Amino acid sequence: MNNSFQLKGNLCFVDEEKKLHLLENKVLVVKEGKIDKILDDFDFHSPLPVIDRSGRLILPGMSDLHAHASQYPYHGIGSDCELLEWLGRHAFPTESKYQDLSFAERAYEKFSEDLRKSYTTRISLFATLHKDATLLLMKKMEEKGLRGYVGLVNMDQNCVEYLQEKDAESALEKTEQFIQQAAEFTLVKPIITPRFALSCSEAELKGLGELSIQYSLPVQSHLDENPSEILETARLFPGYKNYSDIYYRNHLFGNPNKTVMAHCIYNNEEEVEMLKDNGVYVAHCPECNLNVMSGIAPIRKYLDRGIHVGLGSDVSGGSNLDLTLQIRALMQVSKAYSRLVDSKARPLSLVDGFALATIGGGSFFGKVGSFLEGYEADILVIDDHPESFLLPFSLGERLEHFLMRADETTLVAKFISGRRVL
Ligand code: GUN
Ligand code: FE
Repeated sequence: MNNSFQLKGNLCFVDEEKKLHLLENKVLVVKEGKIDKILDDFDFHSPLPVIDRSGRLILPGMSDLHAHASQYPYHGIGSDCELLEWLGRHAFPTESKYQDLSFAERAYEKFSEDLRKSYTTRISLFATLHKDATLLLMKKMEEKGLRGYVGLVNMDQNCVEYLQEKDAESALEKTEQFIQQAAEFTLVKPIITPRFALSCSEAELKGLGELSIQYSLPVQSHLDENPSEILETARLFPGYKNYSDIYYRNHLFGNPNKTVMAHCIYNNEEEVEMLKDNGVYVAHCPECNLNVMSGIAPIRKYLDRGIHVGLGSDVSGGSNLDLTLQIRALMQVSKAYSRLVDSKARPLSLVDGFALATIGGGSFFGKVGSFLEGYEADILVIDDHPESFLLPFSLGERLEHFLMRADETTLVAKFISGRRVL
């Protein structure tokens, strides 16, 4: 039973009430890939193997609710223009390369290998409109023991001639084949992925909503990201009340299937209610929102309303798969929002950010992102090199130091559902 063990170290996690727990040198008991209990010390009468990582930081894995695997080749490049121009200059030319399976092979190998070495244990990904390359990405993730959702990207209008589906009918046929072929995977699952309303005809949106219902599949897309995008969307879909309504009326907005919408910066009051009423998750992508000049999402308001929120790296609108970068960006943009936009919106704290990166986004994937009984054993073991500290940091300060200065620490082991992947 290599997914059952006892692991000792400094446990840091957030519970379902978003309360932070800091437990020095305790033992996490994992049985068949799930958290069983926390003990004061090893149970040497138990048949479970012991792993002693006393002194190290032991955290739940992080969940990335929004990233584009296909854009990874240019991560860190191109944050010199706004969203719509950025799509044309950087995203579309790179994504078109996945037509060539030998390029897809190299690019997705690099992506999945870097993901394996990251703090992320669950992820919801956009691939491209190419079915075979998207299945290849799923295969690579599965082989490395990585878990999450992968979406074949639907886009049958308003893109570019070299990267656009021919029509809704053939696109839906391709998508249904993708769903059926993806059934061979167990760790990685398909997710319905209209790129955004602008890039999808009504016929395509309607067909995708039907597929999501027929196959009980979750949905992901972009929503209310950038002022120019929102204006253009309203012009193209005059029959709808607002941007969210386009997804809602086409069965792409929560109930009965889980949905995650990236960005949600400019949702009006009615749309905020719709997020709440339909249980839609918001993927907060604070760094991308700055890079492509979209704005600052009102996350404090969403949390106060009980809306589900997680973090998205949004590579390559975001520069990096490292979710600690998003935690830092989230704190910084929320302080700017409080100072410049709404002084009543209390800035998000480091613990708020840690909560969103773990249990906040994790709940999109099930019982993920905490060390409570029954949770999936997604675990990071981190060496923060305490021997080099000049001050006697408490465990809380060590967690803070890691989240703020992840570049000074080493990820020494990573488990997903109790299985060691690094
Ligand atoms: N909206 C539509 N496509 C994209 C994309 O690739 N990245 C971001 N950030 N927004 C989008
Ligand atoms: Fe995105």
